[in-house]
Amino acid sequence: MTTFDRQLLELLRDADSIVALTGAGVSAESGVPTFRDALTGLWAKYSPEDLATPEAFARDPEMVSRWYDQRRCGVAGCKPNGGHAALAELQRRAAAEGKQFTLVTQNVDRLHQAAGSTDVIELHGTLWVWRCVDCGDEAEERGPAFSVYPSRCSCGGKRRPGVVWFGEELPGQALLQAQRAAGSCRLFLSVGTSSVVYPAAGLIDLALRNSARVLEINPQETPFSSRAHWSIRGMSGLVLPELLNASFECTS
Ligand code: OAD
Repeated sequence: MTTFDRQLLELLRDADSIVALTGAGVSAESGVPTFRDALTGLWAKYSPEDLATPEAFARDPEMVSRWYDQRRCGVAGCKPNGGHAALAELQRRAAAEGKQFTLVTQNVDRLHQAAGSTDVIELHGTLWVWRCVDCGDEAEERGPAFSVYPSRCSCGGKRRPGVVWFGEELPGQALLQAQRAAGSCRLFLSVGTSSVVYPAAGLIDLALRNSARVLEINPQETPFSSRAHWSIRGMSGLVLPELLNASFECTS
């Protein structure tokens, strides 16, 4: 059983605005591979330039769409873990008390939503929505693996996954909402992210500039660890539920 700093527990209980930024580590315990973990991360096995850029899709749409469709089908078998559930609970608790809670994710798996989180700000899009590169038509795909790659729109155009690739802009509205929330919160939680991909990682800077307190939960050190007010080295699926319970029970 972890013992948490009392000031952190009180802030988690009392802060009128909290932002949580999540990354692939939050879904690791659900069986979704991360990107940069040395042995198991996707970028340890594949090159992002070959799979996660508009140029890669233009060069080899079959390979790129097959890879993303495999990831979509892989995630379909994954269930949210205790970390996702705790963040959904934190949101319910904030709503019941008239406080603000904003969940910003870099994840494309929608496991937060599966755990009950609402109004999730998806900075990097989602694996579940595919978009025609010609007519822009979007469709949610929850079925089995596609039968042809790249899959085709009814207009005949190629369809691409609705994720943000390297070299592409983040969805403007989502980024703006995330920046506003980060720049005005009292407590910022950075969970399961390596904090190396911008502009998502820059949200922590915005929060710090506005004198928010920052908690990082990650088994590994990140470029932001030294600036976080609290750094908990652990797995979010275990740490978050314990932390939330401790803050529920904390009386002052
Ligand atoms: P990364 O793979 O870069 O980082 C995952 C982080 O999760 C690492 O710091 C791990 O130490 C940590 N981690 C691993 N297991 C964990 C656990 N059980 N609990 C908590 N943390 C754990 O993933 P992201 O930071 O999400 O972008 O990567 C950011 C972006 O880079 C992704 O959205 C993706 C990628 O390229 C795009 O595809 C545009």
